Amino acid sequence: MTQWDLLQEALRVVEARGARHPRIGIVLGSGLGAFTGRIRNAIRIRYTEIPGFPIPSAEGHAGELVLGEVGGVEVACLAGRVHQYEGFSAEETVFGVRLLGLLGVTTLVLTNASGGIDPGYERGQLVLITDHINFQGTNPLIGPNLDRLGPRFPDMTEAYSALLRRIAKEVAANAGVSLAEGVYMALLGPSFETPAEIRAFRALGADLVGMSTVPEVIAANHMRIACLGISCVTNAAAGLSGEKLSHEEVLETGRMVQSKLEALLEALLPRLA
Ligand code: HPA
Repeated sequence: MTQWDLLQEALRVVEARGARHPRIGIVLGSGLGAFTGRIRNAIRIRYTEIPGFPIPSAEGHAGELVLGEVGGVEVACLAGRVHQYEGFSAEETVFGVRLLGLLGVTTLVLTNASGGIDPGYERGQLVLITDHINFQGTNPLIGPNLDRLGPRFPDMTEAYSALLRRIAKEVAANAGVSLAEGVYMALLGPSFETPAEIRAFRALGADLVGMSTVPEVIAANHMRIACLGISCVTNAAAGLSGEKLSHEEVLETGRMVQSKLEALLEALLPRLA
């Protein structure tokens, strides 16, 4: 079965569960899944109930699609994502985002956890992603183009919408939430980077490093979905702090910033509708 056929089946199942047609999609990253508690009139569908949906194995990723309302706007939220380091292809990692697109989402807010390369970032800093560098050596659009989703060669000059970024900065300023800006570089993982790699990536123009988001943003741009990326700096990147890196630290920082991120998202979503 092609991914297109699987997506059609998944769409049927989700619509049969009463999904309306949200315009705004949200992807919650490592340790950031608790936001779904702020979604009203929620319809919760576990990924295991959706045909073709890849199931996350990483700790901190719940694995459910939550549909409902935040601040009066209809949203569809992916709580938990899959990564290529779990053994999924780049195409498989974008199944959820494509499903959101087929449900009618035209704006996508993506969150993630990242290592901070810019020495100005504190642990727990929220950073608006201005652009990305794909260092995963692969692309979710490899293979026959799904013409019904988008063009063979999608433009990526404004992969993260300038308009959405402007709105996010304004909302953050009004809410008193510090929101820096930076370029996100995606690696395959699952090993963290070496200090030499981080020095190299800094020279290449990266401010943040992580193992997700970029394939989803490529698939979203393919479908002409406007993207907004918010990264949570869970740790200083390798070699910058003298400390060793661990997934526990990533999850712990995620928990520390959870309420700040939730407040920002709650204020932001109605402005994106
Ligand atoms: N490197 C890669 N991915 C990450 C990091 C990191 O330091 N922190 C959270 N995700």
